[in-house]
Amino acid sequence: MDDVVVVGPLDLAARVDDALAVQALAFGLGESEIAVRRHIVLRHMACRGARAYGATTGDGRLVGFVYGMPNDRAHWWSTVVQPYLVREGTEGWLDDSFVITELHVHPAHQARGIGTKLITTITGTADEPRSILSAVDTESPARRLYRSLGYVDLARQVHFPSAPRPYAVMGAPLPLRRRR
Ligand SMILES: CC(C)(COP(=O)(O)OP(=O)(O)OC[C@H]1O[C@@H](n2cnc3c(N)ncnc32)[C@H](O)[C@@H]1OP(=O)(O)O)[C@@H](O)C(=O)NCCC(=O)NCCS
Repeated sequence: MDDVVVVGPLDLAARVDDALAVQALAFGLGESEIAVRRHIVLRHMACRGARAYGATTGDGRLVGFVYGMPNDRAHWWSTVVQPYLVREGTEGWLDDSFVITELHVHPAHQARGIGTKLITTITGTADEPRSILSAVDTESPARRLYRSLGYVDLARQVHFPSAPRPYAVMGAPLPLRRRR
């Protein structure tokens, strides 16, 4: 029988290694990338308004997580995407927007609604009227999921230094649309 998985607030700084183990499997991260991400996650969790939610099994295993924060134009992510949004006339989305920084579900637990629950729960706590994120610019389950929740493309073929693949930046009004 499937484990019952519960979504709730997550102390991501305390569970960073468990979270990155999930991300490594879901997204494909090597050892060196995990070490880099670890520093970034800990730094992010100290940012104003940063928060995380986790999906946990009955025996306490973390099988999914999401984290994000209100956008800050001074943050690295915002400075990278800003010129692309300016070009598309969508730059205003950088203001009053809640950023989904990471969302990952363990492959063995995907396609059961956990990703949807995580992103709707965290955006449900946001005071901002909209949400933005970046996702690899291919037709992936992540892109389908985001579209189904109301996210639309704000810019495509966005290149982050050091990332091998281009990303799409997406935005949605809050509250997120209910999935069909
Ligand atoms: C993107 C991701 C987080 C989605 O998590 P998830 O838990 O699988 O998401 P959901 O289950 O809510 O939705 C995924 C699909 O399962 C389907 N689904 C949801 N609940 C279901 C259920 N009870 N039974 C069957 N299918 C279901 C959804 O309809 C959706 O289908 P779609 O692909 O046609 O849209 C996950 O695929 C992942 O971790 N991917 C790799 C990492 C990644 O790309 N992260 C995003 C970085 S931007």
